[in-house]
Amino acid sequence: MITETNGVFHIQTGVYSYLFKINSYGIPEHIHFGAPVKTEDAFALSCRPGLGWGSNIVLNPDDTTSCLDTLALEWSGSGRGDYRESPLELAGKSSDFRYVGSKIREGSAPMACSLPQAHGDCQTLELTLEQSDARLILYYTAYPTALVRRAVLENTGSSPMVLNKLMSFCLDLPGTYTMATFNGGWIAEMRRQDVSVRGSKVVNESLTGSSSNRHNPGFLLFEADATEDAGRVYGFNLLYSGNHYAAAQQSLQGLTRIMQGINPSNFSKELAPGEKFETPEAVLCCSDRGFGGLSENMHTFVSDHVIPAYWRGRPRPVLYNSWEGCVFDFNQRRLLDLARRAKDLGCELFVLDDGWFGARNNDKAGLGDYTVNKKKLPEGMEGLSQHIQDMGLEFGLWFEPESVNPDSDLYRAHPGWALTDGFPEVQGRNQLLLDLTKAEVRDYIVENVSRILDSAKISYVKWDMNRHSIALGAKAHDFILGLYEVLGRIFGPRPEILLESCSSGGNRFDLGMLCFSPQVWASDDTDPIERLTIQEGLSYLYPQSTVGAHVSAAPHGQTLRQTPLSTRGNVAFFGCLGYELDLKQLLPVEIREIKAQIAFYKQYREVFQYGRFRRTELGWQVSDGKTTLAGVFHTLVHAAPGYEQLRVRGLKTDTMYRVTALSQAIRVGQFGGLLKHVSPVNVDPNGVLLRVVDRYFTLPEGTEELTASGAALGSGIMLRPLFRGTGYDQSQRTQGDFGSDVYLVEEIEG
Ligand code: DGJ
Repeated sequence: MITETNGVFHIQTGVYSYLFKINSYGIPEHIHFGAPVKTEDAFALSCRPGLGWGSNIVLNPDDTTSCLDTLALEWSGSGRGDYRESPLELAGKSSDFRYVGSKIREGSAPMACSLPQAHGDCQTLELTLEQSDARLILYYTAYPTALVRRAVLENTGSSPMVLNKLMSFCLDLPGTYTMATFNGGWIAEMRRQDVSVRGSKVVNESLTGSSSNRHNPGFLLFEADATEDAGRVYGFNLLYSGNHYAAAQQSLQGLTRIMQGINPSNFSKELAPGEKFETPEAVLCCSDRGFGGLSENMHTFVSDHVIPAYWRGRPRPVLYNSWEGCVFDFNQRRLLDLARRAKDLGCELFVLDDGWFGARNNDKAGLGDYTVNKKKLPEGMEGLSQHIQDMGLEFGLWFEPESVNPDSDLYRAHPGWALTDGFPEVQGRNQLLLDLTKAEVRDYIVENVSRILDSAKISYVKWDMNRHSIALGAKAHDFILGLYEVLGRIFGPRPEILLESCSSGGNRFDLGMLCFSPQVWASDDTDPIERLTIQEGLSYLYPQSTVGAHVSAAPHGQTLRQTPLSTRGNVAFFGCLGYELDLKQLLPVEIREIKAQIAFYKQYREVFQYGRFRRTELGWQVSDGKTTLAGVFHTLVHAAPGYEQLRVRGLKTDTMYRVTALSQAIRVGQFGGLLKHVSPVNVDPNGVLLRVVDRYFTLPEGTEELTASGAALGSGIMLRPLFRGTGYDQSQRTQGDFGSDVYLVEEIEG
């Protein structure tokens, strides 16, 4: 509900209150963003500058409280005494916007440009501010667990004005915070790094043309005592896939100014008289229940209001993807063989990745030419997809429509369609970007992708992008607007196609792409130990249903790490499960294990994909209220490990629960020469006998089965001990490095 009482605006849901007032100078002053409060609390929660701080600029010489520099503001101009960073810059001009009126409407205010918007039940406050030659509208859209803000600037003067910067929001929060950002690069996404926000500005930004794997646009601010379960945490994110910028800085008065929007670096937009510029939507979330509470609010918002409505709550298929198993080396026979094997394992969707069109036999040629390679696929896409469907599988296809190889028919026909900067071209992965600011380029992509999609029964698309932009500022923004237009034209009329966005893995894991694609390929790094960091980083801001997570081969291509198949599965369970390896090379024991993994995942898929996610001492848990699945993950083991306690959050204290560990197989071969201690015959660790036995037989790890009350589980139950070099039996977990378990915790009825 949004109300206005004597100049005090109160945006309140059951989850948060956001309060600000219009002061006597027409300046919106921020009052509160946090736990729900009453409108009457406005005075108690407002900053009280008293007689001010001394020699500052004041709007009114008779009023020491009229010093903008010392107030908590909702927005700030420049050149009027507030020396903190301004969310708006007009070239060579000061700005001074004052309140002229407001409107409260049901629903959101539609954008005029192609930027995506959150959707669903909401209410919007439109706050209009003006100066002599411009109008600024600040939009506040209230969703149950998040507030969405954006700004629109209109040139109301009679001459052009140059806009160098316009943030989606600006906010001054009282308090001292640490900022958590999620940084990295290719195969190393979403590493959380914390920086204290004091007098020096802390910036989280991307300049690659994408939201980027270097610095995800989502970030957190938290108070020093915040934990997973308690304390004040704020979360911010942007519905945008291009260059982004966020800054936080604390003032002398103890106010932390936060802003986020399109990166102003090299950005410049001339606005003709009457012309408007719209920013992307920014998401503001808060919780007094720690990081866990913040993630819950963010997840709910993303699941209910960001991902396309058709896919809200819909189970995602277990997929097989051809990339890591085949790379470019396949033909119809090989693909059908893989599909048969994938079906037998329990997969539901077969995805043909890169290499199916033009002269795309490696990454040097063919990108841009969406004509099926008949040498590889003699029956075309229609024939291949029909065979796959006849096996009872759905069919999905990879595209990379935004890029072009110079060695392609498309580039030879239209060299001018590539994005250039006036200097000799520089390539990334042997490719250039297409100039999506050109209508004819957008039409080419829409027509070609649509043609293929309509030529066969394709129920899934992986939309890849592997080239960073060279375009700067406003051109980079126009490129992203072009991309959104293209995505809307292709997938708007085909909502039932499951779109998975990808950009060299998680180079564009952002809320802009999630408005079109319900899931994103989180990383080209499928090593489960690396995924513990990547998926945990994502979990702060994005729900599990948005995270593509696959089991691949070991040793792993990016780390050379050898990990148990059980752990590869246990980690991928906490996302949208897929398999991406050469299925022909699987051993009989691995086939058995994968079948069991997929069957287990399907049984609890909705809890894994849509359950409430929590980070715990030993790993992660998901829960739908009745069923909880808790993952316990180990990295390097130490000798003589101590007792381990599993704490399960969110259970009913008086209710009894059954706890079962997912049974796991132990590969005999991993014991090598140690087998001589238990075997009646002397087994040669390098001999044929062990190799043969290892293909077909495994040792049981035993399972955990106990009952406990919710109170005991919340306090922490003792797990079976880990292997301690004192022998093998089923009373302990025989796991070496990188071992893991998944515990099923179910309410006992009656
Ligand atoms: C990069 C993606 O991240 C991979 O999953 C794969 O689709 C390749 N591109 C294909 O070229």
